[in-house]
Amino acid sequence: MDQSYFAVESQFAENCLVDNDKYLEMYQSSIENPQQFWAEQGKRLDWIKPYTQIKNTSYAPGDISIKWYEDGQLNACYNCIDRHLPEKANQIALIFEGDEPSQSYSITYQQLHDNVARLANGLKSLGVSKGDSVAIYMPMVCEAVYAMLACARIGAVHSVIFGGFSPKAIADRIVNCNAKVIITADEARRGGKTVPLKANVDEALSRDDVTSITNCLVFKNTGAQVAVNSSVDVCAEELMAKVPADCPPEVMNAEDPLFILYTSGSTGQPKGVMHTTGGYLVYASMTHEYIFDYKAGDVYWCAADVGWITGHSYVVYGPLANGATQVIFEGVPTYPSASRIGDVVDKHQVNILYTAPTAIRALMAKGDKAYATNNRNSLRILGSVGEPINPEAWAWYYQNIGNGQCPIMDTWWQTETGGIMITPLPGATGLKPGSATRPFFGVKPALVDSEGQILSGAASGNLVILDSWPGQARTIYGDHQRFEQTYFSAYKNMYFTGDGARRDEDGYYWITGRVDDVLNISGHRLGTAEIESALVAHPSVAEAAVVGFPHDIKGQAIYAYVTPVEGTELSETLTTELRNWVRTDLSPIATPELIHWTAGLPKTRSGKIMRRILRKIAANEFEQLGDTSTLADPSVVDALIENRLNK
Ligand code: WT7
Repeated sequence: MDQSYFAVESQFAENCLVDNDKYLEMYQSSIENPQQFWAEQGKRLDWIKPYTQIKNTSYAPGDISIKWYEDGQLNACYNCIDRHLPEKANQIALIFEGDEPSQSYSITYQQLHDNVARLANGLKSLGVSKGDSVAIYMPMVCEAVYAMLACARIGAVHSVIFGGFSPKAIADRIVNCNAKVIITADEARRGGKTVPLKANVDEALSRDDVTSITNCLVFKNTGAQVAVNSSVDVCAEELMAKVPADCPPEVMNAEDPLFILYTSGSTGQPKGVMHTTGGYLVYASMTHEYIFDYKAGDVYWCAADVGWITGHSYVVYGPLANGATQVIFEGVPTYPSASRIGDVVDKHQVNILYTAPTAIRALMAKGDKAYATNNRNSLRILGSVGEPINPEAWAWYYQNIGNGQCPIMDTWWQTETGGIMITPLPGATGLKPGSATRPFFGVKPALVDSEGQILSGAASGNLVILDSWPGQARTIYGDHQRFEQTYFSAYKNMYFTGDGARRDEDGYYWITGRVDDVLNISGHRLGTAEIESALVAHPSVAEAAVVGFPHDIKGQAIYAYVTPVEGTELSETLTTELRNWVRTDLSPIATPELIHWTAGLPKTRSGKIMRRILRKIAANEFEQLGDTSTLADPSVVDALIENRLNK
């Protein structure tokens, strides 16, 4: 069998929403007449006041302005819940699957409504109103979904902080968005371990710069005893029991903020990517329906955490706007055993599974244990997100999880794009393992060279998007100038993604990875600058330079070159201490895999660290280091090669 191209089977295509002819026709109309195309698509939502304006966007230097459906009014929570109630009150919305397989239950749309309305009323009773920011630091449980939707219901802007982040990261985010309330739980469970969420929040709130929080709303999850600060803490269950299950949704303008989500860039502090209400929801809903071919009755499972954009668009807003039934998974793919994913698929008869290459590689490493005890016959469509999927992992996912029957949607997108941008459609696109294939409707990708010249035909270059789409981020919260600088200044009148890509002779895109100083560790974005500042904050560290290197399961792992402060005694203990330091300062994901102590770093005479060289040495590819003649002290390189840690 040819393993490099998988055509769409015609019988399969017949049962899908879109076949290739329809894709081509719809794509063309979306590009030729975006106003008309998106006017039509906007109708998938219920609007309180219908829009008459559709697209009003500018990428002009000095005037980056993105507005969609700007005179329309709607409520995102209403669209995700209330409008489904007449038909689907008793349909299951959420199937909870806990960290332990014994913990599972279902929530109907009516129950979802009641829980969300109570929590919304609870937030109101704490003084939260339209436009206020609310931080959410939760385990991956149904209550996290309630929290996000409760904010949307009353027009509060949520800022979800991934449950793996440190107290410092929580504090930074609270300060940046000026959050009034934080919603958390006693503890999270992950892979049989617990994470002390409430204690982390307490530590964040105790910092001097955190002054905006008036209340901390605490859900019971594990039931662990946690410290209670009676002037701030409120028991979420008690509060919800006191208020009615009826809360009229706030009328929101299409361009009112829906949420802020922090993500790493190549410089400085994480940025608060801001998404608004109307365009985002249209895009999340449309992409979810078409890319996963979601039809009423399907059981859908996106195994992402709500702490990431994937959880926002493809756990909460997309599927719920479409009235879907979906699995909410608290655990990890390999707990209690490597068969967990397949077991959950069988248990809940999942039809559509959306996960990440890093999870697939982790299962792959366990051999047939992942699939020998389950049959996964219910599956129809698979999805992949977060990083390029290597052809070996693709083939393994296809054969062993999908039984060779289910097309894999390799979806390329970003926190900033709000929804999927380059992707196959199940009934339309022949697959090439490792390629995200073709643009979604309304998306106009291009490749440019370093001067910004658009390349035609088969080519490699930097990936840009030439025009706006409804799901696009509107700004970086509080710093519109950084928004322009980051995304619109490299190439005029284009959105720069930060990724490199190749386009083949069939017009398929192959994402090759970041071209900036951003790492992708297990599908999570981390800026090298953030990790370096965490390292140099340690008293024994004088200077640090961080690069990524290839890793079998994580895709990329962190290699840190560290210069000690003079007189420091190097030891295993110090290395371990430094790894833990970064772990607690940033997050476990940011823990350096390798720490290479060195007396010097390769710098140019002007003092710039030559990361290119460090990347090569970290990858154990030091034969071709390229030109090193501009280095201030070329002998540094020999010492680094000699002592390299990845052999
Ligand atoms: C970066 C965005 C999109 C939600 C999860 C990550 C990389 C993402 C793919 C893919 C190759 C991918 C890119 C992108 N990426 N999906 N299918 N193939 N690369 O969101 O944290 O904003 O990261 O993830 O490098 O720029 P994010």
